Amino acid sequence: MAVLQPLLLILLHVLLTCPAEIKFSNGFFYQDILRENIGDVHWFTGVKLKVSSEVHSVFAMSGSNVTLPCWYWYEPPVSGPRQVRVKWSWFPSPEAQESDVLVAIGDRQRSFRDFKDRVFLQQEAPGDISLIITHVNLNDSGQYRCEVIDGLEDESTTVDLELRGVVYPYQPPFGHYRLTFTEAQKACEGQDSAVATFKQLVSGWQEGLDWCNAGWLADGTVHYPITQPRQACGGLDLTPGIRSYGSRHRRLNHYDVFCFSSILRGKVYYLQHPQKLNFTEAVQACIEDGALIAKVGHLYAAWKFMRLDRCDAGWLADGSIRYPIINPRPNCGPTEPGVRSFGFPSSSQKHGVYCYSAS
Ligand SMILES: *[C@@H]1O[C@H](CO)[C@@H](O)[C@H](O)[C@H]1NC(C)=O
Ligand SMILES: *[C@@H]1O[C@H](CO)[C@@H](O)[C@H](O)[C@H]1NC(C)=O
Ligand SMILES: *[C@@H]1O[C@H](CO)[C@@H](O)[C@H](O)[C@H]1NC(C)=O
Repeated sequence: MAVLQPLLLILLHVLLTCPAEIKFSNGFFYQDILRENIGDVHWFTGVKLKVSSEVHSVFAMSGSNVTLPCWYWYEPPVSGPRQVRVKWSWFPSPEAQESDVLVAIGDRQRSFRDFKDRVFLQQEAPGDISLIITHVNLNDSGQYRCEVIDGLEDESTTVDLELRGVVYPYQPPFGHYRLTFTEAQKACEGQDSAVATFKQLVSGWQEGLDWCNAGWLADGTVHYPITQPRQACGGLDLTPGIRSYGSRHRRLNHYDVFCFSSILRGKVYYLQHPQKLNFTEAVQACIEDGALIAKVGHLYAAWKFMRLDRCDAGWLADGSIRYPIINPRPNCGPTEPGVRSFGFPSSSQKHGVYCYSAS
């Protein structure tokens, strides 16, 4: 032990005094170069590799195609083409593991997992390695890293992809505070939506979302957004904000959920029909009109992005009755715009219906 200790100390000393600039990320060992010239790994060519994106964030709707800009060049410029390796990777959330999106060497490109055959390099000009993502879906949001490797040089930049959408609270037909985390995911997917992220809930709150029931978010935490403090929702002493229950047990705890919806294609409409319909008739009437009965996520997206305003209560696919209001007016619910809900009445009740056609 007495002999080992000095050895260990020397080893520690060596490890701790290695210059911080050393990067091993492209699999090369830099030691010889660094011994020559610590702190400047570019000395061997005198040329610096630069990588940049002109934007910090890009916004997209679900179903659209999107371009995440990224460029590389050399300072001073080099003559003749150089073989570089381009790698795009993705961080769904700040804590999440990185996953590969696309790698390219010359004309060869390879894409991975959920991105397979859905992503391409734009390559409209020399140095253009912008990433095109087709058929963007609700799961694609997050931070993307664009990395270029040329021999010993390795430079990168990041671009955030944010989905334009709307956050809404959801309770299932069987009642309040009934969903485990997995059931919450299924409930949102059933409405063509995803469980909202904390960031999306914050945007919703900034746009006025006020809801006094706690709901799951995508990271397994439970929150609710309050814009007008009141006694029943944490008391009058608290300022407006997002109330947090923190992380909850995903199988043992039960809450509502906040869903996130974003659609680009198609239209949502109130069906013109001579009679009021029970639920089974409503489902059938949309089919006869060449559409499907709308889901809750469709109605919220249409209200938010197509400004659907209709003071007629109608059936939706989950068996709830709702209607969307942009311009509040007497006999059409509260004084704020919003999607009004009458919960889940008996399926034999007669109402109108909202349909969704994707084409
Ligand atoms: C997205 O790109 C694909 C392939 O290039 C194309 O077929 C599709 O029509 C595009 N979609 C939109 C919404 O522009
Ligand atoms: C999003 O991810 C969930 C779970 O990872 C998956 O079940 C769902 O199908 C995905 N949705 C889309 C539109 O890819
Ligand atoms: C709706 O009405 C039809 C008759 O038009 C009836 O056959 C059906 O059982 C009713 N459905 C419900 C859920 O009440």
